[in-house]
Amino acid sequence: VAPPLVDSFGRKHDYLRLSLTEKCNLRCTYCMPEQGVPLLPKDDLLTADEIERVARVFVDHGVRKIRLTGGEPTIRRDIVDIVERLGRLSLSSLGMTSNGIALKRKLPALVSAGLSSLNLSLDTLDPFKYELVTRRRGFDAVMDSLDIAQGLKPKGLKTKVNVVVIRGLNDHEVPDFVELTRERDITVRFIEYMPFEDNRWSTAKLVPSSELLSLISARHPASGLDKLQDAASDTTRAYRVPGYAGSFGFISSMTDHFCGGCSRLRIGADGRVKVCLFGPPVLSLRPLLRSSPASPTSDAALMHAVGGAVYGKKFAHDGLGGPEGIKREGKMGPMVGI
Ligand code: GTP
Ligand code: 5AD
Ligand code: SF4
Repeated sequence: VAPPLVDSFGRKHDYLRLSLTEKCNLRCTYCMPEQGVPLLPKDDLLTADEIERVARVFVDHGVRKIRLTGGEPTIRRDIVDIVERLGRLSLSSLGMTSNGIALKRKLPALVSAGLSSLNLSLDTLDPFKYELVTRRRGFDAVMDSLDIAQGLKPKGLKTKVNVVVIRGLNDHEVPDFVELTRERDITVRFIEYMPFEDNRWSTAKLVPSSELLSLISARHPASGLDKLQDAASDTTRAYRVPGYAGSFGFISSMTDHFCGGCSRLRIGADGRVKVCLFGPPVLSLRPLLRSSPASPTSDAALMHAVGGAVYGKKFAHDGLGGPEGIKREGKMGPMVGI
């Protein structure tokens, strides 16, 4: 059996996040500038064949969970093909994080192909505000995607809603988002706004999860909240209002980092490997995947390079020194999603 991907702190990495494209059909103000971000040359993107090979060798080395990210993964025309190929690997979860805009038509095919988890980004329940945040129309399309995802539930699609909370913008909607879990078997996650270069972040706009928890608790004085069990590697601290179908939780990257249990590796759309969300790419798989037919790179050589990169992983936040020090390298852009 191939050795698992373990770092120098003994953390086993069994979760791979694969970005399929840097393109996006929205322009969320906290993520992308209006004009978009400079795109990679098309030839630099890994092909479906290359993605399948990479996924297979990672699975050979213990990866059990894959999440497809972007940009917006549904922008890839071969998205169903890619999910079908990865759906044949022995995974415990095959997920996608999507803004839900172009998902409606594709969702049934994706689920048939093996998609088992969907994280939908939706920061507001107000259509006008949606346009303000994303700089595009599309609120109804996202709500339709959520309904379709719910309809596909018997087939086993685990559905979460991602809400980036920004003070003065959508923090007052938090109770409404909790109400969304009354009838729906979904998990709504409130995400602390993270600073990236030029993304208009300020301390004043950050709403600590602890504040939101107090606010929600105060709304349910009679029943209280049930604390749910979280896995060590989970980014979310989850709760349920007793009697509600779904749950809610917090991703507190800023006030309570969860790096100690990190099990994640990331591969960009061009094959660059990151061992931490906040750090730069540490290895590019593309030249290895495209080495000359005369001297092809073996799977073992490919993973030897990855193993070295994983071993060099720092303990927290790429060694940047706590959430205060976090300013991800480079310009803002959808690399945040990977
Ligand atoms: P699952 O646990 O597989 O459901 O996915 P996830 O919640 O990790 O991923 P998703 O793509 O839905 O991202 C939700 C939020 O978590 C986003 O704001 C991400 O930037 C953030 N996030 C994802 N991975 C990490 C990580 O390794 N570190 C930190 N600090 N934040 C992360
Ligand atoms: N802070 C927190 N979360 C962010 N996301 C994008 N930018 C940020 C940020 N600055 C979230 C998106 C999406 C997920 C992949 O990352 O809302 O749900
Ligand atoms: Fe697109 Fe996601 Fe960035 Fe919004 S947060 S612009 S949906 S990549």
